[in-house]
Amino acid sequence: MDKLVIRGGNPLLGTVRISGAKNAALPCMAAALLTDEPVILENIPQVRDIETTRKLLAAMGAEVELGYGRAHHRTTICAHTLAAPEASYELVKTMRSSTLVLGPLVARCGRARVSLPGGCAIGARPIDLHIKGLERLGAKITQEHGYVEATTDPLKGDRLRGAEVVFDRITVTGTEDLLMAATLADGETVMQNCAREPEVADLAALLNAMGAKIQGAGTSTIRVKGVAKLHGARHRIIPDRIEAGTFIIAGALTGGDVNVAGCDPAHLTAILQKLAETGVKTSVKADSVRVMGDQPLAAADLNTEEYPGFPTDMQAQYMALTTQAAGTSIITENIFENRFMHAQELVRMGANIKIEGRRAIVRGGTPLSAAAVLASDLRASASLVLAALVADGETIIDRVYHLDRGYENIEEKLKGVGAEIRRVGNIFPKRAASPAQ
Ligand code: EPU
Repeated sequence: MDKLVIRGGNPLLGTVRISGAKNAALPCMAAALLTDEPVILENIPQVRDIETTRKLLAAMGAEVELGYGRAHHRTTICAHTLAAPEASYELVKTMRSSTLVLGPLVARCGRARVSLPGGCAIGARPIDLHIKGLERLGAKITQEHGYVEATTDPLKGDRLRGAEVVFDRITVTGTEDLLMAATLADGETVMQNCAREPEVADLAALLNAMGAKIQGAGTSTIRVKGVAKLHGARHRIIPDRIEAGTFIIAGALTGGDVNVAGCDPAHLTAILQKLAETGVKTSVKADSVRVMGDQPLAAADLNTEEYPGFPTDMQAQYMALTTQAAGTSIITENIFENRFMHAQELVRMGANIKIEGRRAIVRGGTPLSAAAVLASDLRASASLVLAALVADGETIIDRVYHLDRGYENIEEKLKGVGAEIRRVGNIFPKRAASPAQ
């Protein structure tokens, strides 16, 4: 199992180019199941979760072609025939967002069988809201042997039917799952209390390019007029706002000067605002953010919220920053109940952090020293990388496969701006793998 070895102390200087958003690419790949024509997706990041999704779609009978050479961020998916509208436990257990195929499969094939994901490192993460929503659209749902089975009614032409759906709480993939299902339903669907994340709007842009009739994606009310058939389309995935935020913090934390290029600053408002509160200086252009880490960092409290609030996917990285900020920062995690696994590892590196339920109290300004640490999930890994960049000595981060799920070429990108980082093979005894996110 790979590890990352990072020697801290170098200020990061130069330009980093941001990849396509993993969390937009995943639903867009699932959307290709809604048509028998090819869907061409550009700016797909080369990360492990995309490879898992490729396997998932291929197992159902879809043809998934990955681009090569200069076109290596392009993926063409043709779900001409779907022999097996199923997502097996083997794949769902490694990637929870596999459940995104539930809506498109039942809408297109009239039936779907998808493994229920278990709990994961950051919380329980049930999919009851996806299921309730599909029931509102007329799907019959049964649960047996760890699988959810959804079917449509043959007496109603095997189609879902439009309905009013109010989500009990805001869910990103739940909104996406239902949005996809509603595109092929008979009649109009009105979805309320929807997630407003840019990734939902990006999915809707693809679906509309495929012939769907969606209005309001990116707001909390989405209206979908169902159509009988969708067609192929070409679509470019939006830049990854979480990768951009991670590199902005890397620049600030190391006292560097980094141009984070190819991002969409409009998606980073809450992150940039919070960083400004801590004293981080940035300058924003149309598609880049330059971060100048020449000011001392000051503590600032943080609450994670649904978009447009501060994203939970940046909480761990922000915590790494506050360990070096003067004063006490209180970080409240409102989205997931167990997303502080990185805190104990940061403490092992010299941070002063106390966890009280959903709150982390970070007393900043303590120097960090290198240690052997364990990555527990994707964003926790990113926070350990950030801490390692300013720690004294050589930090060894184990279980980097978590990082590989969502950050494209992170060590090349960091090396490009002056970090001392290398990947090595197995230098620890093997331990049991942790559950999927
Ligand atoms: N929830 C329910 N029932 C449901 C669905 C969600 O109770 O049926 C709860 C969850 O347990 C959680 C909250 O609602 O407490 C919000 O979860 P949400 O459904 O929004 O999360 P998700 O769709 O499973 C996506 C991202 C996550 C990101 C969250 C929150 C993808 C593929 N994943 O997950 O990304 O943290 O939204 O923004 O889009 C990551 O990239 O590292 C990652 C974990």
